Amino acid sequence: MNDSFLSIFSSGRVPLYLAPQAGVSESPFRRICRRFGADVVVSEFVSAEGLRRGSEKTWRYLRFDDAERPIGVQIFGADPQAMAEAAALVERVYAPDFIDINFGCPVKKVVKRNGGSGCLRDLDLVQRIIRAVVAATSVPVTVKIRSGWSDEMRNPVEIALRCEEAGAQVLTLHARSRTQMYAGRADWDEIAAVVDALEIPVVGNGDVWTGEDARRMVEHTGCAGVMIARGSHGAPWIFAQARAALDGRPIPPDPTVDERFRLIIEHARTAIAFERDEELAMREFRKHLGWYTKGLPDGRALRQRLFEVTRLEEAEELLEMYRLKYAVAA
Ligand SMILES: Cc1cc2nc3c(=O)[nH]c(=O)nc-3n(C[C@H](O)[C@H](O)[C@H](O)COP(=O)(O)O)c2cc1C
Repeated sequence: MNDSFLSIFSSGRVPLYLAPQAGVSESPFRRICRRFGADVVVSEFVSAEGLRRGSEKTWRYLRFDDAERPIGVQIFGADPQAMAEAAALVERVYAPDFIDINFGCPVKKVVKRNGGSGCLRDLDLVQRIIRAVVAATSVPVTVKIRSGWSDEMRNPVEIALRCEEAGAQVLTLHARSRTQMYAGRADWDEIAAVVDALEIPVVGNGDVWTGEDARRMVEHTGCAGVMIARGSHGAPWIFAQARAALDGRPIPPDPTVDERFRLIIEHARTAIAFERDEELAMREFRKHLGWYTKGLPDGRALRQRLFEVTRLEEAEELLEMYRLKYAVAA
């Protein structure tokens, strides 16, 4: 299983990753993205401390379906020993294809305990964490970093080399500093510099919004893989479009309204089956409803009503009513 994951980088195809995204890259969405051509998916980040404490919520996050493979489970934390234990536990219980370490999260709650991008201020700590996790697991260990802690301390190549030296087998660079959060543009030149400096595969991340962007990123940086986060929101078909662009084929158009609505229902059904609580699943599904209906004529009014539903049946009715009205108006 492990070998099959790393061999993805020698398959002659640049793998497309669905990015780890708290609250978004949950199992149902990962399955949808895989179906549209994402080659690799990564879980939402989970705290090493939560895993060790045996927090039920943390463990529930991690459930996945075999159809999602190859899948990586992403963990974060600042204590090498805790990270090693968490990685070993995850491997034993879930047997993911790889473990990804998050050195990129900019959120205060995480950073203040030196987790996520907080580690980027201390590269010795970064290396100790990677070494401890590598020693504790038999699956490949990959890392996801930002370009640096702050714009003054922007040093992606140095960080990346230290990660490689410590035993990371794949490195993803989100080419923004921690202080940038999500503002400004990702600096693809930094991805190119890291690709040049490293032996291991480098996955480029940041500002791939269209299929054509994925092709441009590969051309600009020579990256071995492309990771997409926000560009997939309400648009999992971006993976099919990116694959076509990379293959030099015509890019398939966005789905029609009918196709989009069918996908919404399929996605919601999967979410309900996964959550086993329709009301809870529909509440959590609101963000996807918002994204899927963005840009539709009168989309705002539709969204307002969709955000109130607690049962899939109600959402189906609203979508059907909209579809009929839209078809009549068209
Ligand atoms: C809602 C949301 C949640 C995220 N959660 C995580 C996370 O759990 N782990 C992680 O490494 N990055 C996380 N990220 C960052 C993304 O993986 C990615 O690095 C970033 O969004 C840049 O890629 P993009 O320009 O394609 O969106 C998150 C991003 C978003 C928008």
